[in-house]
Amino acid sequence: MQLEIDDVHVAYGRTEVLFGVSLTVPDGSLSCLMGRNGVGKSTLLNAVTGLLPIRRGTVRLDGRDITRLGAPQRALAGIGYVPQGHQVFPHLSAMENLLVVAERRRGRDRSAIDEALDVFPTLRKLLERPAGLLSGGQAQQLAIARALVSRPKLLILDEPTEGIQPSIILEIEDAIAALHAAGGMSILLVEQYVEFALRLAETYAVMDRGVITQSGSTEAVQESAFAELLAV
Ligand SMILES: Nc1ncnc2c1ncn2[C@@H]1O[C@H](COP(=O)(O)OP(=O)(O)O)[C@@H](O)[C@H]1O
Ligand SMILES: [Mg+2]
Repeated sequence: MQLEIDDVHVAYGRTEVLFGVSLTVPDGSLSCLMGRNGVGKSTLLNAVTGLLPIRRGTVRLDGRDITRLGAPQRALAGIGYVPQGHQVFPHLSAMENLLVVAERRRGRDRSAIDEALDVFPTLRKLLERPAGLLSGGQAQQLAIARALVSRPKLLILDEPTEGIQPSIILEIEDAIAALHAAGGMSILLVEQYVEFALRLAETYAVMDRGVITQSGSTEAVQESAFAELLAV
């Protein structure tokens, strides 16, 4: 599913944060959005997923204008969102976190949960555990698995490696690569871990203070140039 973000403006009250962002995630591709803290990456994702109103500009999914749809309608249209900060329902078990989505979406069909758990097999041993007692990395895997239960056609991930131990970062990288290779899904990845993002993505964009300052194919890109661009 192709995502087209066209000239999007977003503000918090009177404070403008996005000043005309345009970005396309082609069907089936994996694109990464990079940029320093506070430049507006999460704001853009929240605007695309319907959690923040868009002042001006358009968001389209496969050509369909979804700018005025609410978040639930956008999820139904095929967007799966994993917000920043490995958010799970802490008082529900890991399995209950997955069931919440499954029961809302697909009756009692458990095959979507099984498929999501195939992506993160280590979660299978933790299903009865309260999600609040999982490690940060496990909770992030659970948050991604939960988004997968709705079988999204566009998966949006906000800094999935943030604050997570290296061994689990590798598992998450393998999982994202496998999801991408399996096809049928576009992926938009926001990431500050440059090596991770460049290994996974085909195209990239860099955001600075509410605008896209650079974009292109990751093939032509040097990691060192990015490290400089993103340095605080
Ligand atoms: N709920 C909010 N209310 C007001 N300002 C916010 C809110 N969330 C983020 N901001 C501000 O918007 C800017 C962009 O934030 P954010 O999108 O979280 O950046 P990033 O994800 O790139 O780190 C920052 O200046 C931040 O302080
Ligand atoms: Mg952010």
